[in-house]
Amino acid sequence: AAANIGVVGLAVMGSNLARNLASREGNTVAIFNRTYAKTEELLTEHPEAGFVPARDYAEFAASLQKPRTAIIMVKAGGPTDAVIEDLISVFEPGDIIVDGGNALFTDTIRREKRVRETGINFVGMGVSGGEEGALNGPSLMPGGSDESWTTLGPILRSIAAIAEGEPCVTHVGHDGAGHFVKMVHNGIEYADMQLIAEAYDLIRRGTGKSPAEIADIFAAWNEGELQSYLIEITAEVLRQTDAPTGRPLVDVILDQAGAKGTGGWTVQTAIDLGVPVSGIAEAVFARSLSSHPEQRAVSQNLPGPRGEIAVDDADAFVEQVRLALYASKIVAYSQGFDEIRAGAAQYDWSIDLGKVASIWRGGCIIRAQFLNRITEAYDEQATLPVLLTAPYFVDALERAQSAWREIVRVAATSGIPSPAFSSSLSYYDGLRADRLPAALIQGQRDFFGAHTYKRVDRDGTFHTQWSGDRTEIEAVDTH
Ligand code: 6PG
Repeated sequence: AAANIGVVGLAVMGSNLARNLASREGNTVAIFNRTYAKTEELLTEHPEAGFVPARDYAEFAASLQKPRTAIIMVKAGGPTDAVIEDLISVFEPGDIIVDGGNALFTDTIRREKRVRETGINFVGMGVSGGEEGALNGPSLMPGGSDESWTTLGPILRSIAAIAEGEPCVTHVGHDGAGHFVKMVHNGIEYADMQLIAEAYDLIRRGTGKSPAEIADIFAAWNEGELQSYLIEITAEVLRQTDAPTGRPLVDVILDQAGAKGTGGWTVQTAIDLGVPVSGIAEAVFARSLSSHPEQRAVSQNLPGPRGEIAVDDADAFVEQVRLALYASKIVAYSQGFDEIRAGAAQYDWSIDLGKVASIWRGGCIIRAQFLNRITEAYDEQATLPVLLTAPYFVDALERAQSAWREIVRVAATSGIPSPAFSSSLSYYDGLRADRLPAALIQGQRDFFGAHTYKRVDRDGTFHTQWSGDRTEIEAVDTH
């Protein structure tokens, strides 16, 4: 057996990951694809990689040193289950199957249980960074057993992106923890993208600047505290001219955002966990709203201001937008980390939140300078209940106060949708409130369903006899 690692599934992500592995000292990579033509293609195009090809699973297993280690890079869902069963039939106890697809973490938990019965290790691994990341250095979020990490750790470290000297990979936690964290990464990615889109829209409408001029603004922002891959590529997209029409590309792209589903999973899971990821949810829903042209068509003449803003000082306005973006971004990350904390508690994973932030500094789509601040916050206090209460963020939120509120006000009064900016601000004010109208909701629930309430001044559970004489009785808590 010649290879220390194998890759199954040679579409773009799989073949790029295989090439990345092969390019690192000490790795020999076995490759397998359902149709052999694809394998041959990769062999011909990349003879330098020294791949060990296999025509069937038996040959693939025979080409791997023990413990055999294989990374599956196929479509999430049914195809992943099928490949897992095929590998089980040729692997032995102690071997390691890694799923590098965007699997739903509950599927990963199920698969881990199934594979564990055979004595084989199963690792669900989040891989971020797209095609380019897979080839040159992704951010890797493996779950699975400690035993598998012993073999896998050095291999993954060899291919991961490097941020400030550290490979962007850590053993996130057991079974589904890696895919859970990757899911939340994508949720945050949605929020980041939506916030950037709202910032662009406000600047364009407020200042009348062209996309190319706004590209310069984003490029400048990328030199400061907002430095991140998504800000950087935003400048590139805005600067692009459409060759056939000579117009800015952003003006000829249909304004209906797609989604493959991971952002939605983040929100669904947050609902189950009772975690308010409102910024992420608004980002998901903003894409849904954009993708209903039939509803948008019948709504165009609805009353309301038409998105015109009178801005006196364009530079000052741009700076206000920047501060509002930064504050809202802090909220989105705080909500995302809240979800990871709650998921870890629910599924019994021990996840180092600071470490998660540090492996997102390189390789992945949300990579940013800013993540260092998150690592520092958790280094300071590992059990921090709300990330945005860490001193660095409080400082940033303080600086942003008037700008953030002004931008949300301007958006509302001029009829410019700003779901992520405004929901982030509402969340922030909700957290800060000493008293919430939730008390009234409890009263309403007690009125129509005898759902009971607690009091501020005494222990116990109470019910007002609304349909009787309206006196209060102490109730047995039935939830
Ligand atoms: C990554 C990306 C990657 C992919 C998303 C895009 O971390 O590399 O998040 O996973 O690009 O699936 O998601 P949507 O198609 O839902 O926008």
